[in-house]
Amino acid sequence: MKNVEHIGIAVKELEAAEKLFSSLFQTNPYKRETVESEGVSTLFFQINQTKIELLQSIADDGVIARFIEKKGEGFHHIAFEVEDIVAEMARLKKEGFTLLSETPKPGADNKLVCFLHPKATNGVLIELCQGIKS
Ligand code: CO
Repeated sequence: MKNVEHIGIAVKELEAAEKLFSSLFQTNPYKRETVESEGVSTLFFQINQTKIELLQSIADDGVIARFIEKKGEGFHHIAFEVEDIVAEMARLKKEGFTLLSETPKPGADNKLVCFLHPKATNGVLIELCQGIKS
């Protein structure tokens, strides 16, 4: 793993959260993107080296909606950039981690992603991501 790529925060109201975080960070999001396949609408902020992803569910029964129902708004996942996501997934599987998908999936912000089950990682949802070279 290379570095923390971004931190994901689950919110109920993306518009309200956008205002709040824009004011907090003194900058506007550099990207907004809906990932239909994941049932989320996202906003990305960049503060120097740090990226923050805000996620709102676009469906009542989406993963983010269910997360907020159980745990409330707030910290959702930490994403690590990897060099080769397929190789990293194979390595982690061998180490006994539970992957939430068998193959990398297209995620927000031009990335291939895979999540690790938080039950096997001390309750922390971890995302692996690899930039898609265009
Ligand atoms: Co993410």
